[in-house]
Amino acid sequence: MTDRTFHIITFGCQMNVADSDWLRRSLTGLGFSEAPFGEAGVYILNTCSVRDKAEHKVYSELGRIRHLTGNSPDILIGVGGCVAQQVGKKLFSRFSQVRLVFGSDGIASAPQAIDRLAHQRSLRISLLDFADQYEERDTRWSATETAPPSAFVSIMQGCDNYCAYCIVPYVRGRQRSRAPQAVLDECRALLERGTREITLLGQNVNAYGLDGGSGGASFSDLLHQVAALPGLARLRFVTAHPKDLGDDVIQAFRDLPVLASRLHLPLQSGSNRILKLMGRRYDCERFRSIVDRLRAARPGIHLSTDVIVGFPGETEEDFEQTMSFLREIGFAGSFSFAYSDRPGTKAALLPDKLDKPAKLARLARLQDWQYNYAWGILKGLVGETVTVLLEDLCPSDGQGGELWSGKEERGHSVTVRCTGPAPAKGWRGAMLPTRVTEAGMHALRGEQCGEGW
Ligand code: SAH
Ligand code: SF4
Ligand code: F3S
Repeated sequence: MTDRTFHIITFGCQMNVADSDWLRRSLTGLGFSEAPFGEAGVYILNTCSVRDKAEHKVYSELGRIRHLTGNSPDILIGVGGCVAQQVGKKLFSRFSQVRLVFGSDGIASAPQAIDRLAHQRSLRISLLDFADQYEERDTRWSATETAPPSAFVSIMQGCDNYCAYCIVPYVRGRQRSRAPQAVLDECRALLERGTREITLLGQNVNAYGLDGGSGGASFSDLLHQVAALPGLARLRFVTAHPKDLGDDVIQAFRDLPVLASRLHLPLQSGSNRILKLMGRRYDCERFRSIVDRLRAARPGIHLSTDVIVGFPGETEEDFEQTMSFLREIGFAGSFSFAYSDRPGTKAALLPDKLDKPAKLARLARLQDWQYNYAWGILKGLVGETVTVLLEDLCPSDGQGGELWSGKEERGHSVTVRCTGPAPAKGWRGAMLPTRVTEAGMHALRGEQCGEGW
């Protein structure tokens, strides 16, 4: 019999983080309780398959649990998310403790499956089918639960873009938009329980509704509807796609003050030739024009991006074009990755693959530059007054006041010394006026300089 304690390990993007949060709540509702690594009866790995390395981490984690628990049959492992969808039932034969595999749609029935598996040791369950429509889950809150200050709300599943390098459409399925009413209901329930900031989630939010699942609402319609909800202090969304980002969304940055001054806009490459091979369906000229219009609509907006270096056939000149485009746009942050072959993708079949040292050398050049540039931006914020949404209490440094961490409007992390009277509802979830006093390498530090609200 498996002990009714669980431990969830999450890899990958914000969608997996949101899925894991939901699973945690759902299992708790079924009478399971959370336990530290090494002390749980049930382990859930919510996995990512976007790069080879991410996939390998899953196997090493499964090996670690097997080793730690002496491969005991009392331990139950569920593997969910993108590696589960990709590898499927083969995980059963490789790891005897794995008795549940579930994909991004199958997760809706995973809590009940775990409940059954905890009683029946000989059972194995796979939940790998894709649903035709957005698969709604039970997101009701119990009377005793409090919501986090900042929450993710999914607005769609899957992706239809099939960028040449990307495995996501194969492991998350076709794009299916969620009904606006369901999105709004989930947002309202969060706001009623104390959430102040909402991040709308999808692989390509700008294509929201194009699959017919939204009953005619576009992404900017949805933005306006969510922005109007009472109690919302800050709204964000991720991920935008330059191919589908239209003027209506750009105008939303002018018209909706609640929309945070930050946009993550993945570039992938600054070479038009490589963008074409990647199947991204925009060029640098379009990207530049979006950025110009965004900066006109919302002066001071900070942008961040994703870049892949070493795509098959990328020359030194292509890479230099990426570097000069990054310098030109001036992203406040970037996530950059060495290209990784993924099974079943178009790029995996392309000629002229670069070797690993060449990819890593370019990655290091890009990251060195970006790191210094981003730090320069953080240093430029010293002396400014920002509003920080306080999320987590930090260990005290003995210098007085409480230390809280959170994010300011442009998405930068700030550790704030809170010295004034605590807001009526407490520090957690407060929007706190803060004077930035110092720029660390990854985060800002600041002092409370007004009353929280
Ligand atoms: N839907 C988002 C991102 C999804 S994956 C978008 O369209 O931008 C997150 C990031 O992983 C991508 O933006 C890309 O930069 C990177 N990525 C995806 N596949 C990759 C691969 N095969 N090799 C290296 N990086 C990859
Ligand atoms: Fe992958 Fe492209 Fe879809 Fe993003 S838009 S998830 S990179 S296929
Ligand atoms: Fe990874 Fe799946 Fe997200 S592959 S990036 S966890 S959609």
